[in-house]
Amino acid sequence: MNMDEQLAAMIYREEDIPESYQVGPPVVQHEYLVGGHLREWHGPLQEVYSPVFVNTESGSTARLLGSYPLLTGNEALAALDEAVSAYDNGTGPWPGMTVEDRIRCVEEFAQMMLAEKTAVVNMLMWEIGKCYRDAQLEFDRTVEYIRDTIDALKDLDRASARFSIEKGIIGQIRRAPLGVVLCMGPYNYPLNETFITLIPALLMGNTVIFKPPRLGVLLYRPLLKAFRDAFPRGVVNTVYGDGQTVISPLMTSGNIDALAFIGSSKVSNHIRRQHPKLNRLRCILGLEAKNPGIVTASADLHTVVRESILGTLSYNGQRCTALKILFVHSSLYDQFLERFADAVARLHNGMPWEPDVFLTPLPDPANVAYLSELVNDAKRHGAQVVNDAGGSTHHTFFYPAILAPVTPDMRVYNEEQFGPVIPIVPYDDLRTPLEYVAGSPYGQQVSVFGQDVDEIAHLVDSLVNQVCRVNINSQCQRGPDTFPFTGRKDSAEGTLSVSDALRVFSIRTVVATKDFESNKEILRQIVQERKSAFLSTDFIL
Ligand code: G3H
Repeated sequence: MNMDEQLAAMIYREEDIPESYQVGPPVVQHEYLVGGHLREWHGPLQEVYSPVFVNTESGSTARLLGSYPLLTGNEALAALDEAVSAYDNGTGPWPGMTVEDRIRCVEEFAQMMLAEKTAVVNMLMWEIGKCYRDAQLEFDRTVEYIRDTIDALKDLDRASARFSIEKGIIGQIRRAPLGVVLCMGPYNYPLNETFITLIPALLMGNTVIFKPPRLGVLLYRPLLKAFRDAFPRGVVNTVYGDGQTVISPLMTSGNIDALAFIGSSKVSNHIRRQHPKLNRLRCILGLEAKNPGIVTASADLHTVVRESILGTLSYNGQRCTALKILFVHSSLYDQFLERFADAVARLHNGMPWEPDVFLTPLPDPANVAYLSELVNDAKRHGAQVVNDAGGSTHHTFFYPAILAPVTPDMRVYNEEQFGPVIPIVPYDDLRTPLEYVAGSPYGQQVSVFGQDVDEIAHLVDSLVNQVCRVNINSQCQRGPDTFPFTGRKDSAEGTLSVSDALRVFSIRTVVATKDFESNKEILRQIVQERKSAFLSTDFIL
């Protein structure tokens, strides 16, 4: 079979798809969560089609998964009103609740969420084409993240359960919430990268409005009741629909205190600029990147190929941390191309539920055309597609294209491809990749491959002040979630990790008094008689 025939043969008939991976008939979602109620929407709906095509009598077609509400600015503002009054200038029941009680609500939510695992994982697979194994990992990683965040909060709270006395001043220092947080995650990790901001924001006492990404919306439906039942009224609210329509009124209201956004800098800049009080708005942003892999002359090619496959093609290269350009020393260039192309040829492409599948359909149909444009542009400027059938497409599927040699006049040299196109740049002098990193608008991570200790040490020292993680003989990645995840320049604002996220959604606040006996007596009484949630020496066990 040639590649075109192979790609056409990937598509199943509905009846041949194993029962346990099915999502059933289209879901027509009318409900959205505002003010502790699942409100019914009777206006227009957005239809959701899967990137997974199925064979029907009339040919292969994108499977209709369902539809969701296209709310207007009025519903968004109603959600905002609820979030603002639940916060109530920091005096609402949620920000005023003890940390232990907030933890109990989040634990209850996590229990209810676990009961919906199958529905969420299957919809994740169908909505964004993520393979079943990775969809399960995304769900499990999220639940683990919730548990780890709770533990980190207990540690943080224990460390604050004491008074400090310095230079005649007694003070208690705790972290206090910011207010109303707007959370927006990306389509490649629609569940995980929404929850890595939403959960810590909630645990710190903020109230939240969240909008699912453009792709990866229906998977939230099974969780709406859990949000409604686990949290007090108005603490968690959802908005659905066109970003411009529902997000602009929220931002222009001036009542959003923090924006947690993972996506592109273009969109985040547009959103934040609409806020009338920029100093009030705190931004926690995970943005684009163009992480390079630098393969030095002493690199072990077996390691380079293994990590480059993971780095460039896990979830079809649709990770902000993906390796998006490889600089290969010219002494290894030919060998590397041969071995890398061979490894790509061995990857299994197919439908997300197939056991060993690695390459799957792309969720955004526009990306197939965009990636083809990048390949054609590179070819026009002298690059070749070095792997068999690289760049072949079929509906939403794009077969990986290894492009070499890539030069600075090609679009793929600078643009973040966010898909299975792998540009390879041969180099002789390490200054070439180092200047690339220094001149890049991005500064997230880099991978360095080599065995020459002196050279690696030199590269580490040159790169640590340009990016936020240097990976040695390993692909770029965010995990483990206890490690700080951030970037310089256009790649991020703020740092996320289990413990950092608790910090970014809160602010250190002090209650202080001069060390006089009368003041001490006031503090003593407040603490002993448990009159304040803030001034307290209670220790969470
Ligand atoms: O898309 C960006 C993600 O933060 C990447 O996360 O390295 O865990 O795949 P990951």
